[in-house]
Amino acid sequence: MTYARITGTGSYLPEKVLTNHDLEQMVETNDQWIRERTGIEKRHIAADNQTTCDLAEQAARRALEAAGRSTDDIDLIIVATTTPDRVFPSTACLVQQRLDIHGCAAFDVQAVCTGFVYALGVADKFIRTGAAKCALVIGAETLSRIIDWTDRSTCVLFGDGAGAVILEASEAPGILSTHLHADGNYESLLTVNVGVSTHFDAVAKGEAYIHMKGNEVFRMAVNTLGRIVDETLEANRMTQADVDWLIPHQANIRIINATARKLNMPPERVVVTVDQHGNTSAASVPMALDVAVRDGRIQRGETLLMEAFGGGFTWGSALLKF
Ligand code: COA
Repeated sequence: MTYARITGTGSYLPEKVLTNHDLEQMVETNDQWIRERTGIEKRHIAADNQTTCDLAEQAARRALEAAGRSTDDIDLIIVATTTPDRVFPSTACLVQQRLDIHGCAAFDVQAVCTGFVYALGVADKFIRTGAAKCALVIGAETLSRIIDWTDRSTCVLFGDGAGAVILEASEAPGILSTHLHADGNYESLLTVNVGVSTHFDAVAKGEAYIHMKGNEVFRMAVNTLGRIVDETLEANRMTQADVDWLIPHQANIRIINATARKLNMPPERVVVTVDQHGNTSAASVPMALDVAVRDGRIQRGETLLMEAFGGGFTWGSALLKF
């Protein structure tokens, strides 16, 4: 049986840091409120001339190096992003050009904060069916471009960054299962409600902003993530005790803690980067994975549970042997 196995990880954060104290100068908020309600201390913000593709490229190069692979080996590129450089070509095609890769399939996946888990699920299927052997899967965002910096209820939450993995065909177990879900009935609770075919003038004027009913999103996220943890373990006939690491989407420390409690995971087995990165949407899970791989916490052979929840609503999980 062919599995898809992660053979290298990489991430990239833009240099500019925006602290809670910086935000105190911009909107009526304070460091204590942000820390207590979200767990966030700071976030990184892309430079004016830096795009999602720029961040994605750096993360991709680091993942390739970690996997010991060259760009010639890549036969599939998927970029999960909500903040693409252009309407088209896809950011995946732009990354392909940067890496001087020619001919392989390259496309974007749009599932907001669940984007990377979706992209991993799609790449897993390509590899299991033999359609690809060595995939580059990226989550990359410049969310700072769709933030209303005068809205304190959203501007304190988000940040920019990119994370990537190299996923290769392997006889040894890698991804055990992925579980992808959506319910568009909740579209209005978390949205940028303008786009190409509606109110494009707002996009052109730079007034395309994230709108969120924070309380309702919070409740749904906690309940839904609890359910997907059960679904994932049941599908693999595993129990909580079989999971070595929880790598959650980094939206809010209180959501992360609620899912960890549900799993009976001790805090030291949960990878947390929300304090340093904020919510980077599709980039958050691969960046958290890369941090914990590079600092030596996550070891080969361990069992990882990734989960995410985002606009749509979308939600998903991946259980894998690292
Ligand atoms: N600084 C200070 N006060 C703030 C604030 C800020 N940045 N943002 C909101 N407040 C105020 C509100 O105005 C409100 O004041 P009021 O009681 O006088 O009306 C009060 O704080 C409580 O607001 P509320 O929205 O109820 O807070 P909360 O505990 O729900 O926390 C979020 C807000 C956004 C942190 C929380 O709802 C959340 O994390 N939601 C999910 C977000 C998320 O994960 N989104 C992405 C999913 S992928």
